[in-house]
Amino acid sequence: MNALSTATLIIDAAFLAAAFLFIYGLKRMSSPVTAASGIRVAGLGMLVAVLASFLYVFGVSEAAKPHLTVNVILGAVALVLGLGWAWTSGKKVEMTAMPQMVALYNGMGGGAAAAIGAVELFRTSAEHSTIPLVVTIIGSLIGAISLSGSLIAWAKLDGRVNGTWRFTGLQLMNGTVFFATLALGLYIALVAHGHAPVWMTAAFFVLALIFGVLMTMPIGGADMPVVISLYNAFTGLAVGFEGFVLQNPALMIAGMVVGSAGTLLTLLMAKAMNRSVSNVIFSNFGAAGDEQQGEIKGSMKPVDAGDAGINMRYASKVIIAPGYGLAVAQAQHKLFEFVKLIQEQGVEVKFAIHPVAGRMPGHMNVLLAEAGVPYDIIYDMEDINSEFKDADVAIVIGANDTVNPAARTNKSSPIYGMPILNVDQAKQVYVVKRGQGKGYSGVENELFFADNTNMVYGDAQKVMVQMIQAVKSLDGGGH
Ligand code: TAP
Repeated sequence: MNALSTATLIIDAAFLAAAFLFIYGLKRMSSPVTAASGIRVAGLGMLVAVLASFLYVFGVSEAAKPHLTVNVILGAVALVLGLGWAWTSGKKVEMTAMPQMVALYNGMGGGAAAAIGAVELFRTSAEHSTIPLVVTIIGSLIGAISLSGSLIAWAKLDGRVNGTWRFTGLQLMNGTVFFATLALGLYIALVAHGHAPVWMTAAFFVLALIFGVLMTMPIGGADMPVVISLYNAFTGLAVGFEGFVLQNPALMIAGMVVGSAGTLLTLLMAKAMNRSVSNVIFSNFGAAGDEQQGEIKGSMKPVDAGDAGINMRYASKVIIAPGYGLAVAQAQHKLFEFVKLIQEQGVEVKFAIHPVAGRMPGHMNVLLAEAGVPYDIIYDMEDINSEFKDADVAIVIGANDTVNPAARTNKSSPIYGMPILNVDQAKQVYVVKRGQGKGYSGVENELFFADNTNMVYGDAQKVMVQMIQAVKSLDGGGH
């Protein structure tokens, strides 16, 4: 067997192994118990695929070798730079900044797919056949939209871009840009057969990038989770298409796995918001700022953290609704310490997780898993919502939009229609937050003014420490 066929055999086997590792890794990610190892398995798959790509050097003719050597060096430099950047930023990133990071990396994936497409389309000397050309165009279009759209999503989540675009004719403008981009792409593929002038190919990419910006700018507020997972799906699809163009099975499979998982996640997120995906993209729902709220009746009634803690120690059933503020305060460990203390006194404690609580899918599950909270006391919204009416206490820790009753009643509210946790139905509600801060969608919360609600002001971690101390002092140092 010569060097060429040995290399091809090894590359094919490595790609097959990588594909298996991606799928097996994804399977393990479906449960919180095995998710961390699933990420490692999928990461190993990526390592195998990347290393195998370097073996292509053995598969080319002697004449093409000098060219390839330069490419291998460039690839290695890019790999070292990318690894270094991802490693350091991944180590440093705060849990609360994770969604921005996901959006950014997602954009990079879309950009990489668009770059592969660009290389193919600008290589006008090459002979292209129609199907690969069309696939290249579709992959490039989706990849470029995903790149610029994800960057805008990152900037919005990071507070660098504020506000949402809304003006008459916005959708007409977006539609025009989209169809112009598509028309250019089809011309390049079907009329020019991949030999279009450089300016035309460049215009195609610029328009696709502009469309990504235009599509994301009108979306905001509570809709961002749906948008982020939509771009995730886009990136997967774009990578899958470009994998087809390059006839690279690892890219095809990785792309399709990400694309289908992202699509499912997008549909789940949209369902959690009680919206359709097209409604998220094409209407301006979720953009904060135009709520017409009637006068909220009642007043906010502060209560001492220790008193609230002692009240819960004497309750029979307590349901905890965590939100973004729990992540900000990193209060999950203290919260679980408190839960264990009251459980020892016979209190039944359950956690209620809203699907978009926090700033990324599964945010609360990750936090609670980190603190060691057993999975059998953590409930999804639809499984626990009917139990709030039987709870003595519902304690809201750093959550706001996900427990705002305006979502049920106020048609002008940007969160109208989103299912919420029924915390207001508990006999007593405690809300732990630092002050008058609003939730992500920027609207007032009438729950805080309700007769059965008391506010426990303070940073969630400090509040939990006070509650622990109060219960411990009551029970003689906690036994
Ligand atoms: P939010 O509505 O964001 O409210 C968080 C609350 O936590 C704020 O009212 C804030 O009030 C309080 N808080 C902040 N820091 C705190 C601290 N250190 N200690 C105690 N409280 C603190 O939270 P939520 O109910 O989890 O809702 C999530 C929102 O984010 C939804 O609108 C959702 O659509 C959106 N979103 C979700 C995702 C995903 S995928 N989960 C992604 C992007 C956006 P104070 O300032 O007064 O303390």
